[in-house]
Formats: sequence, structure tokens, C-alpha cells
Amino acid sequence: MTIALSDCLPRIARSRVVVTGGAGFIGSHLVDFLAQHGAELIVVDDLSRARVDWLKSRRQDPRIHVVQDSILDEERLASILPGVSIVFHLAAIATVMMAVRNPEKTLKVNTLGTAQVALAAQRAGVKRFVFASSREVYGDPAALPVHEDAPIRPKNVYGASKAAAELFLNTLDNIAVVTLRLANVYGPGDSGRVIPIFLHNALNGLPLTLYGGQQSLDLIWIGDVVETLVKAGFSDAPAAGPINVGSGASTSLRNLAQRIVDLVGNRATMRVVPPRGPEVERYQADLTRAGQYFGLQPKVDPLEHLPEVLAALRSSTLEKKTHI
Ligand SMILES: NC(=O)c1ccc[n+]([C@@H]2O[C@H](COP(=O)([O-])OP(=O)(O)OC[C@H]3O[C@@H](n4cnc5c(N)ncnc54)[C@H](O)[C@@H]3O)[C@@H](O)[C@H]2O)c1
Repeated sequence: MTIALSDCLPRIARSRVVVTGGAGFIGSHLVDFLAQHGAELIVVDDLSRARVDWLKSRRQDPRIHVVQDSILDEERLASILPGVSIVFHLAAIATVMMAVRNPEKTLKVNTLGTAQVALAAQRAGVKRFVFASSREVYGDPAALPVHEDAPIRPKNVYGASKAAAELFLNTLDNIAVVTLRLANVYGPGDSGRVIPIFLHNALNGLPLTLYGGQQSLDLIWIGDVVETLVKAGFSDAPAAGPINVGSGASTSLRNLAQRIVDLVGNRATMRVVPPRGPEVERYQADLTRAGQYFGLQPKVDPLEHLPEVLAALRSSTLEKKTHI
């Protein structure tokens, strides 16, 4: 049975929810959505990659409590979690290249950290745990689209850290775990990933660098991801087996770059350089399961929201300039 967002909304009001990594890109959008619908939010974030402007603007919001600490602090977790009904676990070393540069830290935060948060939640009697896993667990898939039953063959430490965390979560009882394997998410407030980097370069007349040039990505709009997270947390969505979350469409890196150049309209150039070894070459999510549970359908144009990202980037740049 497909879950309707309207059925989840009444459950959000007055719920007490923890979002780890809630000051990051995806977490901040989720927190805003839940706060708007009446939840009490506890954000656990060490602020190592937080959205500083977002944090500043939410400082006075009585519905959002920010605990600046690492998910590796077990005592702090034990003090926060009693009385919480749902944990959205998003804190992570969350880009492939950051992870590759810090493999030990990545395993500590993404694997051990996930286990610690889940165990602390289980002990505190939390009912549901929603885990942001990644399409990186599949590595380079043999065929597209990739179904959840495809072999787990991560190609880098980031994918391995998420796969190991998934395996551990599968062993837990007395807590419903929903594992979402997110594709490449895009939207306002992201940084250090391909779309914000391409937009920044195009806006500044710098070349767009394509590593290898043959890559293809499944790009999903942040709004669709937030809606899916909410449905996973505030419903009786199945807690057995991972679920792909993507657009169900594959976009080549070249097309993405061209689309951004056309959108920005200043004829920035593209530069193809050798591929970066740890990066996955191609991906497209099979959305059969996600469609069944969350109503996610393949998108005709996964990049239809790019103009919104550009507009947000332009207005935040303008805001910063006005404040100087
Ligand atoms: N954005 C994507 O395209 C994408 C794709 C697949 C999976 N994911 C997963 O979704 C989640 C959220 O990703 P995002 O894009 O918002 O990343 P992000 O880097 O913007 O947010 C992660 C947040 O976690 C925080 N954090 C890092 N280490 C921490 C620690 N030890 N303790 C507490 N907080 C810590 C950071 O400060 C940051 O605010 C991550 O788990 C990521 O792996 C993201």
C-alpha cells in the first residue's frame, strides 16, 4: 500500500524527533519541514559541515534545539534519546572524496557512529530509526536500473562504511529500521558536490571539470527526498530491506554540465580530465519498491528544479554582498 503524505502530517504535530546531521544539507530541509508541521526537533550535529546561514536563522526557533556534539558521544546520546519517537540518522562523512581522504574517520563516524546511535535509540525505547544510506553501496553496477537485490560491491570507503552500517542495523530488534539508499540529492543549501560546484563555476566564468566525462548520475530533488524521509518515519512503512530513493532516471555528467551552462547563460567551458578512481561510473535507481511504498515514480526531467537552486544561490550571494 502506498503511503500518503497527508496521512503522516497529523502524526508529526507534537512528536519529539531527533535528526542527526540535522544542520547539514538534507537534514536542514527535513528539520524545516517537520518544524513547520509542529514537531519538536533535536538536532545532533558536530557542525563540521553544517549550513552556517541556516543555523543562524533558526537560532531563535523554539521548536528546534541544536545539540552541538558528535554522534560518537555515547553519554550525550543516552541523555537526549529518552522520550523521542523517531530518529532520522543523517550525520555522516557524506561525500565520497571527503571519505576517501579520511578513511578511518569515515568508518568511525559512518559505521561505528551509526551503530552507536541505533543502539542508544533502541535502549531508550525509540520506535523508529530511519537511516540515510547511499547508492554507493552498489559500486559500479552490472546493469541499470539497479534493484535493491543487486550485489553489494562498494567501490570506496564511503560505500563500504554505509554497507557495513546497513548490515549491523539488520541485526537489531525492538526498533523498526528503515534504510533508504539515496541517489544523488540536489537542492538549495548543498555544497562541495557536483551541482553546486558546476553552478558556482558557471556563475564565475570558470571551466566545469568533468572527471572522465562518461559518468551518469541519478539526480533527485531535495523536496522528493524530504517527502520520502517523512513517509518512512511517520508511517508504518516496511522495516525490512533497503529502499532505493532516486529519480529513476540517468543523467550524463555532460548533459548536466551543458544544462547548467545553458541555464546560467554565460558560455562557461567544460574541461574533461581523467576519471577519479573511487567514483562510481553510472547509476540509475530501480524505483519499484520506492513506488510501491512511497509512490516515487521515475521523473521525465529530474533536473526540472535546477532554476530554483540557481535562484537560491544567486540570492544568498547577493545577501552576503549586501552585508559586507
Ligand atoms: N546528499 C546526497 O546526495 C546524499 C546521497 C546519498 C546519501 N546521503 C546521506 O544522507 C545524509 C545527509 O547527507 P547531506 O547531503 O545532508 O550531507 P551533509 O554533509 O550536508 O550533512 C551531514 C551533517 O552531518 C554532520 N556531521 C558529520 N559528522 C558528524 C558527527 N561525527 N557527529 C554529528 N554530526 C556530524 C555535519 O556537520 C553535517 O551537518 C548522509 O548520511 C549522507 O551520507 C546523501
